[in-house]
Amino acid sequence: GHDMAAMPGMAMGAPADPSPVLKRLRLPSGRPLATVPRLVNRGGAGRFVGTLSAAPVTLNLAEGGVKTTAWAYNGQLPGPAIVAREGDSVEIVFTNRLNQPTTIHWHGMPVPADQDGNPHDPVKPGESRTYRFTLPKGSAGSYWYHPHPHGHTAEQVFRGLAGVFVVEADDDPLRHLAEDWLVLSDLRLDERGAIPANTAADWHDGREGQFLLVNGALRPVIALGQGERRRWRVWNATSARILKLALPGLEWQQVGSDGGLLGAPRALDTLMLAPGERAELVVSGSLPAGKSVALQSLPYTRGRAMTPEQTAAFTVATVKFGPPVAGAAVPAQLRQIPALGEPQVRRTLTFSENMADPASMFRINGQTFDMNRIDFTGRVGDIEEWDIVSEAHMDHPFHLHGTQFQVVARNDGSGWVAEPFLAWRDVINVPLREAVRIRFRQDLPGMRMYHCHILEHEDQGMMGQHRVSA
Ligand code: C2O
Ligand code: CU
Ligand code: CU
Repeated sequence: GHDMAAMPGMAMGAPADPSPVLKRLRLPSGRPLATVPRLVNRGGAGRFVGTLSAAPVTLNLAEGGVKTTAWAYNGQLPGPAIVAREGDSVEIVFTNRLNQPTTIHWHGMPVPADQDGNPHDPVKPGESRTYRFTLPKGSAGSYWYHPHPHGHTAEQVFRGLAGVFVVEADDDPLRHLAEDWLVLSDLRLDERGAIPANTAADWHDGREGQFLLVNGALRPVIALGQGERRRWRVWNATSARILKLALPGLEWQQVGSDGGLLGAPRALDTLMLAPGERAELVVSGSLPAGKSVALQSLPYTRGRAMTPEQTAAFTVATVKFGPPVAGAAVPAQLRQIPALGEPQVRRTLTFSENMADPASMFRINGQTFDMNRIDFTGRVGDIEEWDIVSEAHMDHPFHLHGTQFQVVARNDGSGWVAEPFLAWRDVINVPLREAVRIRFRQDLPGMRMYHCHILEHEDQGMMGQHRVSA
């Protein structure tokens, strides 16, 4: 169960070296990239009806007959993919078979506040509820769903509860490209193959596992035809790992962000992907059949000292070339993204920490989360502009519920620089001692959460509430 024994206030320190037993614990790797199984739709045209349950499940993740108990949606790691279309109504019947309360939060989606799995609406152990919402036109994108109960979110996600939700468009300009989906998640196992609780260091810096999984498996092999162009959707579904990805030897362009396609493709060097963030890419290359290149995770400091494990690059997946495939065309213009325009409301949010007060260390504007306190009030349809500042002690990926925002400028300490392109996002990393300026509009009334998506920080109070009235 959930216990606060390992929360801050205990001695901090680097995680202990892995034991020799742990070093021998191996996960199978190098298998072909698994397709994420889809949730069965029992509705008809225009209507998605599906069933999800959250429950413990025993899996053979490590070699040698080692058993691991994870918490999973419908017994699957990652959870089943929900694929619906703009305009669809969605009905998800959910049962909680965990021994602690949970919710399902529809991360990034324009869902009514009372259907969005807020911590105010827990589903108790053994209970069920139905989530109902309609996907508006223009909402096509790569989203995900995960638990959001008060104080239990990090644990429920790092034990395995996360799944993806893809909303398809009627007029997708990249429909003709073959797709690969990469759901990245962290796994930490102890010497018995169990998923251990967080350490004090995890509660402070965010937890990273020893294994970065792709669709539930270690270092899969992704096929790519020589000369082929494929569309990748990539989800950072880890609880706390800020990823810096590189794909040396291949060409990649970013074509989409959290909330769907960009206005135009953008050439990429490396791809930063904060916890909760997604990207759509077009990947291509012209190596001969049989050659492989690595999708790499590069070291990234997050604004604070790294452990030796974090200073080494590692292979996330291998891209293996097959016979030539004619490359499909990528249009120079993907869609129109209108700028949100001048704001009616301006606010500043500062992520801060109070080391002297371990019980409420993680704060926004000096306050730790209180479900009974409304931090900001706003109105449906107003353009809000928020400056989000990271004051201590590391990067904090900012996330807002219920809508998508645009980054309009960034400030690394030497002044504001306008963002060179428009994109719809719901997560943006705010590097330590830097600031990011966003604009957004809420189109639905209700209580909206905003928080750091390092889930350990969120659980410890780096979260607030914006009550939006009609
Ligand atoms: Cu992805 Cu409030 O969370
Ligand atoms: Cu969210
Ligand atoms: Cu944080």
